[in-house]
This record gives sequence, C-alpha cells and structure tokens, in this order.
Amino acid sequence: MNSFGLDDTPARKRDEEIQRSFRDRKFRVFLVTSSDPETDNMLLLRAKCLFQKQLSKMPKEYIFRQVFDSKHINMLLVNEDGTVAGGICYRPFFEQSFVEVVFLAVDYDFQVKGMGGFMMDLFKENIKMDARGYEGLADDVLGIFRYKNRIIEDLDCFPDGMVNGMPHPLYIMAYADNFAIGYFKKQGFSSEIRFDKWVGLIKDYEGGTIVECRVYWEINYLKKKEFIGKIKNKLLEDMKTVNEYHVIRGISDYSKIRKVTDIPGVFDAEYPAQNSTGSLYRLILYLISDLRGNASAWPFLKPVDPLEVPDYHRYIVKPMDLSTMLSKLEKGEYKFIEPFVEDVKLMLSNCFEYNGKDTPYYKCAQILQGYFDDKLKFYGHVIARFSTPQ
Ligand code: ACO
Repeated sequence: MNSFGLDDTPARKRDEEIQRSFRDRKFRVFLVTSSDPETDNMLLLRAKCLFQKQLSKMPKEYIFRQVFDSKHINMLLVNEDGTVAGGICYRPFFEQSFVEVVFLAVDYDFQVKGMGGFMMDLFKENIKMDARGYEGLADDVLGIFRYKNRIIEDLDCFPDGMVNGMPHPLYIMAYADNFAIGYFKKQGFSSEIRFDKWVGLIKDYEGGTIVECRVYWEINYLKKKEFIGKIKNKLLEDMKTVNEYHVIRGISDYSKIRKVTDIPGVFDAEYPAQNSTGSLYRLILYLISDLRGNASAWPFLKPVDPLEVPDYHRYIVKPMDLSTMLSKLEKGEYKFIEPFVEDVKLMLSNCFEYNGKDTPYYKCAQILQGYFDDKLKFYGHVIARFSTPQ
C-alpha cells in the first residue's frame, strides 16, 4: 500500500507502464475525421483495417463507411512505426449530452496489457474537453459539428476536475459486443439504462447489448486510481469514528478463550448494547447511506419539487425521500427499526403510485425495492435486535 492508500497491484503497475510509454512517445494518439480536408486517409485506412480484423463479424463495407463518415471521429493509438494499436470510432451528440462509441478495438498484439483501459480513460477525458468546447466547434450558422484533426501530446492537459459550469451529465452509449461486455463493465458501463436521449439516434446492432456510462466531470479518469485511493483513505478514517475496525486487540492468555465471543472485540461487534440509541442510529445511517449509493437511488435523494412536478402532492399525500429520512434520524424520530423500514416502503410505493410502469422512475423503484429487501434479509439477525419490543 502506498501513501495514497493505493494497492501496488499488477493492474496498477500495468496502467502506469502504459502511461509511461505514452509519455516516452512509444505511441501517439491521433483524433482524425474525414470532415477535416487535411485528413491523412492512409491513417483512416489503417484504422479501418484494425476494426475489420478485430470485429470480423462486421461487414467490411460497413466498417469503411463508419470510419470515413464525416460525422464520426476516430481516436487512434498509433505506434512509432505508424501502425494502429487501438482505436475508437465515435460520434458526438453533444447537443443531447452523449457520445456514441461506434467501434472500439485494440490490436491483438496489444490486448490484455491495459491498452483498452487506457484508451477508454483518455477517451473520456477527451470527450469532456470537446463537450466543454462544443460551442466553439459548432458552425455558427448551420449548427453543424466541425472538428479539426489533432494529436493528443500531453496527458497533463486534462484538468483534475471540471465541475464549474457543467450542468449536464455526459454519457457514452455503445452497442457492446457480447464478448466485450466484461471489458465495458470494467470501464464503468452498465446495461441498466437510465439515460434516454440516445433513443432513435443510434442504430440497433444484433448480437450486441446497449450499455451506458456516465462520465463524471469531477474525476480525471487518467488519475482515477489516485482519486479512488483518496476516497478509500477518507472512508477508512471516517470508519474509525463509528467503529473500532482499526484497533488490533492482543490475546494475553489463550487458555481463557473457550468460545468465539471470548476473543477480544468479537462480543462487542456481534452484540452491540440492546436497542441502544447509538447502535440503532448507526444501523439506520448505514442503511440510508447504502441506499443513497445505489445507482438507482437518484430519483429518491431529495423530496419531489412541487415546482417541477406541480400535481405531485395532489396524488401523493405522504411524500418521503432519503434526505427526509436522514433528517428524521438526526432528530431522533426513529426509536425502532420498523418506522424506518415503513418510510422506505412508503417512498417506493409513492413512486409506483405516481409513475407509469414504463418510466425510469418506476424501474428505479423496482430495483431499489429488490435491493432493500435483500439488505433486510442479509442483516435480518442484526435488524431483529432493534425491533419494537413485543
Ligand atoms: N471480458 C472481461 N473483461 C475484460 C475483457 C473481456 N472480453 N477484455 C478486457 N477485460 C478487462 C481486463 O481484464 C482488464 O481488467 P483489470 O483492469 O481489472 O485488469 C480491463 O478489462 C482492461 O483490459 P485491457 O487489457 O485494457 O483491455 P484490452 O486492451 O485487451 O482491450 C478490448 C479490450 C478492446 C475489448 C479488446 O479485447 C478488443 O479489441 N477486442 C476485440 C474487439 C472488440 O470486441 N471490441 C468491442 C466491440 S463492441 C463495440 O465496438 C461498440
């Protein structure tokens, strides 16, 4: 473990090695589109050959058309000898806040060496830059997206966080080949689709699964391991204030250990003081934090705003959301676990009542319901200790 709390795993060393190769100019990254009159067509042809080789089920004419399509941009990793080691052919839809990955491939000789991961991290940083400069890229009169070919020379040109002035989340959409789903998942993609502005704009591919990835403005993906390390360290520090995971207890006399709970620390962890307010508070705080961290929790984080949904309170008499539950917890309104569980159920049933079955809200509520039920089952033995006395 280093000072950032990062594990010196082979994956981390591999990622550092790739970035070092880039800095040592062992390969360069080109952004190429046929819409730029100065395009090196040979480079596009090499990109087409790479995609054709790696995506052998795709008709080659189709690949040719996509790579040379003037609306598409190709981010290409080019070796010192000019061969293309990897690439992403993509189409920006910045007006709709997303980018479609049309093709993505790494040459066979470079696969499983971290190149695909590096390419995706760089891609995310690059599209964030372009989305931010989108106004400048669009033709003033026609609103047509115009892109100039360029080379990415420097990884440090990408800022550590771009939060200010970025109101819209940015998404990447792709039809992932079923063999590559694992790779996409590792890069933060999910087949649970929340974003919907792509519908009708992207062609459907047989044998593929639509996946989405939200690109966070506040993360520099090329430094994501440091970012995660800092969060992990902060969490470990915060955990010290709610439990004693960091305390290492010694055993001075092993002959006194007759059952598991005789081991120092085990009894305290397993049997917190019965119904003590502090333990119930921590349990509910944990359950709320856990729900908030679920990818489907976004509709439930705050109360429904009557300005945004004027008729909501006409149909829903007892609104509930996770921030309200948190403030009830802070005010000591949960004396037992049941009222909290009832509030979670109320929040979800409100959602089922107000929203149609096909809406993303309804689907999120279904996912969260399953998730919460599993949590209740999993922690059943702990939760039982905080129930209302019979
Ligand atoms: N299944 C599961 N996990 C995978 C897969 C896979 N097929 N491929 C890579 N990974 C994982 C790796 O284990 C690694 O995980 P780690 O970071 O925890 O160690 C991570 O993904 C990154 O791996 P890389 O070595 O960076 O990936 P690689 O350079 O091999 O590139 C790629 C992956 C692009 C999918 C490559 O295998 C490829 O070109 N395949 C053929 C073409 C293809 O299928 N392209 C996608 C088609 S879908 C479309 O184009 C929209």
